[in-house]
Amino acid sequence: DFIVLLGPPGAGKGTQAQRLAQALGMAHISSGDLFREHLKAQTELGQLAQSYMNRGELVPDDVTIAMVRERVSRPDCARGAILDGFPRTPVQAQALDEMLAELNGRVVCVPLINVPAEVLIERLGGRWTCRAQGHVYHEKYNPPRVPGVCDVDGSELYQREDDLPETVARRIRVYLEQTAPLVDYYRQKGLLVEIDGTLPIEEVSAKLMEAVEKAR
Ligand code: AP5
Ligand code: ZN
Repeated sequence: DFIVLLGPPGAGKGTQAQRLAQALGMAHISSGDLFREHLKAQTELGQLAQSYMNRGELVPDDVTIAMVRERVSRPDCARGAILDGFPRTPVQAQALDEMLAELNGRVVCVPLINVPAEVLIERLGGRWTCRAQGHVYHEKYNPPRVPGVCDVDGSELYQREDDLPETVARRIRVYLEQTAPLVDYYRQKGLLVEIDGTLPIEEVSAKLMEAVEKAR
């Protein structure tokens, strides 16, 4: 069973996907994290992706789809996974249905985490991300025990280059233009569940859990 988390940049997809994955013992697949791993390893794909990411634009569908297709076919996804940041365009959503059909899997629930734009800007401005595994913190809303250090693995925290205010504004625009159409796509399939993402992290998790349990 696959769960697709939808929501604008900064809505809390990564935060919630990590918690949900842990609670359900499922794999967590973040397309953004996969690109950032390629970037760190300085692969060709990483270099290509970086040029789009730093501008707040989407990486082209073909390379994104190929990367996720390889990831979902690994053994740790045999019982499903939580997808965070993919699909992000109608073409990607179609491709996901096709790749899951090949794997005998299906999307069972699509929570949409709703958060207004002014809140997104504040969240991304205060976000700190772990270098080793992408764990996410906020200097005010979810601070690490020791400033600048990941609670889980002790690695260094950094601020993402695409969290600069101009780039955040671009990312929100790109979301509205290219990703928001997926809301209707999944609503028509009866899979969409809207969640208030302005609540505290634990409360959002509880609502998500409830939605997922109901769907499975
Ligand atoms: P990606 O890494 O996917 O970024 P994003 O979608 O913009 O999402 P974010 O990671 O910024 O936010 P989030 O919703 O995960 O929020 P988080 O939990 O961190 O993509 C980056 C780039 O990669 C894209 O721009 C694109 O170039 C490329 N890309 C990726 N996927 C692609 C695809 N499929 N196709 C093409 N290109 C692709 O939370 C944010 C902050 O808020 C944190 O500090 C957190 O601590 C805090 N917070 C979270 N929840 C709460 C809460 N309830 N209350 C208070 N604070 C909270
Ligand atoms: Zn970490």
